[in-house]
Amino acid sequence: MSRIPQVFLDELLARTDLIEIIQNRITLKKAGVNYKACCPFHQEKTPSFSVNPNKQFYFCFGCGAHGNAIGFLMGYDRLEFLDAVEQLANAAGMEVPRSQDDNTQKSQPLYELMHKASVFYQQQLQQHQSASDYITQRGISPEIQQQYGLGYAPAGWNNLLKQLKQERDLITSGMVISHPEKQSCYDRFRSRLMFPIRDVRGRVIAFGGRTLGDEQPKYLNSPETPIYHKSAELYGLYEARQQSNKLDQVIVVEGYMDVVMLAQFGINNAVATLGTAVNTLHIQRLLRYAIHVVFCFDGDKAGASAAWRALENTLPLMRDGVQVDFMFLPQGEDPDSFVKTHGTEKFEQACQDSIPLAEFFFQGLRTDNDRNSMGDKAHLARKADELLSKMPGGVFQQLMYDKLADIIGVDPDKLTTLIHQPIAAKQQIKRKQSAQLAKQQTRTPMRYAITLLLQQPGLAQAANMAGAVRQSNIPGVALLAELIELCSNNPQISTGALLEHWRERPELNQLATLAAEDLVVPQSGLEQEFQGALQRITEQQRELDIQQLIDKASRGELNSEQKRSLQQLISDHH
Ligand code: GTP
Ligand code: MN
Repeated sequence: MSRIPQVFLDELLARTDLIEIIQNRITLKKAGVNYKACCPFHQEKTPSFSVNPNKQFYFCFGCGAHGNAIGFLMGYDRLEFLDAVEQLANAAGMEVPRSQDDNTQKSQPLYELMHKASVFYQQQLQQHQSASDYITQRGISPEIQQQYGLGYAPAGWNNLLKQLKQERDLITSGMVISHPEKQSCYDRFRSRLMFPIRDVRGRVIAFGGRTLGDEQPKYLNSPETPIYHKSAELYGLYEARQQSNKLDQVIVVEGYMDVVMLAQFGINNAVATLGTAVNTLHIQRLLRYAIHVVFCFDGDKAGASAAWRALENTLPLMRDGVQVDFMFLPQGEDPDSFVKTHGTEKFEQACQDSIPLAEFFFQGLRTDNDRNSMGDKAHLARKADELLSKMPGGVFQQLMYDKLADIIGVDPDKLTTLIHQPIAAKQQIKRKQSAQLAKQQTRTPMRYAITLLLQQPGLAQAANMAGAVRQSNIPGVALLAELIELCSNNPQISTGALLEHWRERPELNQLATLAAEDLVVPQSGLEQEFQGALQRITEQQRELDIQQLIDKASRGELNSEQKRSLQQLISDHH
């Protein structure tokens, strides 16, 4: 991953309005300087989510969620950091600088090598009758072979190695296996029908290879390599996007052959995970390209439990506007056999008849709960809430809770209080505790100086005692010095943008709490307060120094120079 320069993030956040970003997603109410809302990151009835336009920073006093515009998009739209940055940059008309870092440079030869391997396998397919017979017999036309770049790895231990020669890169890319003890290398894929796996940009990053007969294993896949991470990739996504620029709907199936065969029957929007269960990364990626996902599973028990796992992974990503359905094929059929036997129309019909996520959810919850007793209902409510609470806030989540209330037979409002009572109580206790803790800790001058600076970065310019402060060794001084440095170089920076510099550092949460604290001082008094805090820090330091020297003196350990400085310190003090 390439690192984005901090100056770019500063500039991006300066050009972005957090209020606008949030208001596009939830309703904010003006309350003094701040805007308030019920927190989108936890369930609550009274608003404790607060957004400050000057600080360009949000904070929830209920659950502690906090951040700037980047953080909000990551949390609310469930975006990865880079994608959130990309989205904001698009809106701000800026281009994200992507330095070709070491990694991309190192990967380039691997991509080229994989491309050459794919070309080689495709040529071999033309030259090996047994392989092309197999493909024809499965019913795949030359056009589809071409579209998916199908190929053949011929029998023999070193065809690819002889052809491409770059032994070291072939090993790194997983195409060649090396046996250091025997000092020998050989091709990983032999006598197999080859499915190139391409990333969304169309670069070949791995292969799946199927035997032509009954040998085991039926499929052999590339191992994890610097350019291939199987838990995030989807077979067929690139090809599907080639067919239609705007993919509305994507069908997720289990096998390579299923994807290819559906394409053969004109269904060009199928993708498959690569021998792994559907995970959150997959769904996140899919939802970037389509807003309607249909999961297709076998109609057996294994299919049903795989579907439930997919559902659990999907719920946290179910923002409003996203549609997810579940489709179950008759026992013993996979999409490949189904579409071959029944044809395109029947498959499409089955796809349209698939079960909406909401229905599948409540069906699944009820199966082991159908005695319908009060105890069962309470159990169901808890189980449902555990999953529903992970959903992003929004209309859809609300409807799910309403439906749950309906099933259990209570009023929706009552359900929310019932379910969340223990949580609300716990939060209240936690809040009381942290308020007490805050009081105990408040107003060490160091803490206060940091708080002021976080909330009013422009104050750094007034920090004419910064030099003296930096000399001290009071806890927190390094942090304060860093803040002063950052803010004096960029006095216009907002609180939110400032905290961006701490994204990956352990102090972030603590800093966010300070940034959210209510300052009772009026704007005009801030500078004086800040100077006062700095002053008190230097005084604290002097007292510490004096104490240390006095301790030494009482042990008779002072040399003449130290005696002089002790006198000096004491006279300065009075
Ligand atoms: P066909 O049997 O040719 O129709 O292929 P398929 O894609 O329908 O295979 P199947 O339904 O048996 O398996 C689904 C997916 O699981 C495959 O596409 C592979 O990704 C994976 N898979 C199946 N068998 C193996 C295996 O033996 N080893 C590994 N690593 N993965 C496998
Ligand atoms: Mn199959």
